[in-house]
Amino acid sequence: MLTFACKLEELAEGRSKRVDVQGNKVAVVKIGDDIYAIGDTCSHQNYSLSEGMVLTDDLEIECPKHGSTFDLLSGQPRSLPATKAVPVYEVSIENGNVMVDIDVDNIVS
Ligand code: FES
Repeated sequence: MLTFACKLEELAEGRSKRVDVQGNKVAVVKIGDDIYAIGDTCSHQNYSLSEGMVLTDDLEIECPKHGSTFDLLSGQPRSLPATKAVPVYEVSIENGNVMVDIDVDNIVS
Protein backbone atom coordinates (compact mmCIF):
# COMPACT_ATOMS: atom_id res chain seq x y z
CA MET A 1 0.00 0.00 0.00
CA LEU A 2 1.34 3.43 -0.91
CA THR A 3 1.95 5.58 2.16
CA PHE A 4 2.78 9.28 2.41
CA ALA A 5 6.50 9.87 2.95
CA CYS A 6 7.00 13.62 2.39
CA LYS A 7 6.17 16.50 0.10
CA LEU A 8 8.06 16.54 -3.19
CA GLU A 9 8.99 20.17 -2.53
CA GLU A 10 10.82 19.16 0.65
CA LEU A 11 13.45 17.27 -1.36
CA ALA A 12 16.63 18.99 -2.47
CA GLU A 13 18.38 17.99 -5.66
CA GLY A 14 21.06 15.36 -5.12
CA ARG A 15 20.29 15.08 -1.42
CA SER A 16 18.65 12.58 0.86
CA LYS A 17 15.88 13.23 3.37
CA ARG A 18 15.20 10.81 6.18
CA VAL A 19 11.54 10.17 6.80
CA ASP A 20 9.59 7.83 9.03
CA VAL A 21 7.02 5.78 7.18
CA GLN A 22 4.91 3.65 9.47
CA GLY A 23 7.85 3.20 11.83
CA ASN A 24 10.34 2.46 9.06
CA LYS A 25 13.24 4.84 8.54
CA VAL A 26 13.49 5.59 4.85
CA ALA A 27 15.97 7.72 2.91
CA VAL A 28 14.22 9.56 0.09
CA VAL A 29 16.57 10.78 -2.61
CA LYS A 30 15.93 13.15 -5.50
CA ILE A 31 18.10 13.02 -8.60
CA GLY A 32 16.68 15.08 -11.43
CA ASP A 33 13.11 13.99 -12.02
CA ASP A 34 13.65 10.65 -10.31
CA ILE A 35 12.87 9.86 -6.69
CA TYR A 36 14.35 6.87 -4.86
CA ALA A 37 13.40 5.37 -1.50
CA ILE A 38 15.89 3.16 0.29
CA GLY A 39 16.14 1.83 3.84
CA ASP A 40 17.89 4.52 5.87
CA THR A 41 19.77 2.23 8.25
CA CYS A 42 23.12 0.98 7.02
CA SER A 43 23.29 -2.82 6.95
CA HIS A 44 26.78 -2.74 8.49
CA GLN A 45 25.99 -0.84 11.66
CA ASN A 46 23.22 1.38 12.87
CA TYR A 47 23.97 4.60 11.00
CA SER A 48 21.70 6.80 8.95
CA LEU A 49 22.46 6.70 5.24
CA SER A 50 20.66 10.03 4.84
CA GLU A 51 23.55 11.70 6.59
CA GLY A 52 25.91 10.50 3.89
CA MET A 53 26.56 11.78 0.41
CA VAL A 54 24.44 10.97 -2.62
CA LEU A 55 26.55 9.95 -5.60
CA THR A 56 24.27 11.20 -8.33
CA ASP A 57 26.26 9.90 -11.30
CA ASP A 58 26.42 6.37 -9.90
CA LEU A 59 22.92 6.36 -8.33
CA GLU A 60 24.38 5.42 -4.97
CA ILE A 61 24.29 6.70 -1.41
CA GLU A 62 27.33 6.58 0.83
CA CYS A 63 27.24 5.60 4.48
CA PRO A 64 28.79 8.43 6.51
CA LYS A 65 30.39 6.09 9.05
CA HIS A 66 32.62 3.69 7.11
CA GLY A 67 31.98 4.67 3.51
CA SER A 68 30.06 1.74 2.04
CA THR A 69 27.96 2.81 -0.90
CA PHE A 70 24.53 1.39 -1.71
CA ASP A 71 22.83 1.18 -5.09
CA LEU A 72 19.65 3.28 -4.97
CA LEU A 73 17.86 0.91 -7.36
CA SER A 74 18.70 -2.44 -5.79
CA GLY A 75 19.86 -1.59 -2.25
CA GLN A 76 22.96 -3.71 -2.82
CA PRO A 77 26.23 -2.58 -1.25
CA ARG A 78 28.80 -1.57 -3.83
CA SER A 79 31.75 -1.31 -1.48
CA LEU A 80 32.89 -2.77 1.83
CA PRO A 81 32.53 -3.07 4.77
CA ALA A 82 28.77 -3.56 4.28
CA THR A 83 27.93 -6.88 2.63
CA LYS A 84 24.14 -7.01 2.97
CA ALA A 85 21.55 -5.12 0.97
CA VAL A 86 19.19 -2.57 2.44
CA PRO A 87 15.56 -2.53 1.29
CA VAL A 88 14.42 -0.38 -1.59
CA TYR A 89 10.84 0.75 -1.99
CA GLU A 90 8.59 1.59 -4.88
CA VAL A 91 7.87 5.31 -5.14
CA SER A 92 4.93 7.15 -6.65
CA ILE A 93 4.27 10.89 -6.85
CA GLU A 94 0.66 11.87 -6.25
CA ASN A 95 -0.41 15.52 -6.17
CA GLY A 96 3.00 16.69 -5.06
CA ASN A 97 3.27 14.00 -2.40
CA VAL A 98 5.97 11.34 -2.37
CA MET A 99 4.27 8.03 -1.69
CA VAL A 100 6.23 4.90 -0.76
CA ASP A 101 5.10 1.29 -0.85
CA ILE A 102 6.44 0.34 2.56
CA ASP A 103 4.76 -3.08 2.64
CA VAL A 104 7.04 -4.49 0.00
CA ASP A 105 10.73 -4.19 0.68
CA ASN A 106 12.44 -5.28 -2.44
CA ILE A 107 15.67 -6.78 -1.25
CA VAL A 108 17.46 -8.06 -4.29
CA SER A 109 19.84 -10.81 -3.32
S1 FES B 1 27.97 1.71 9.47
FE1 FES B 1 27.70 1.95 7.33
S2 FES B 1 29.51 1.16 6.48
FE2 FES B 1 29.75 0.87 8.59
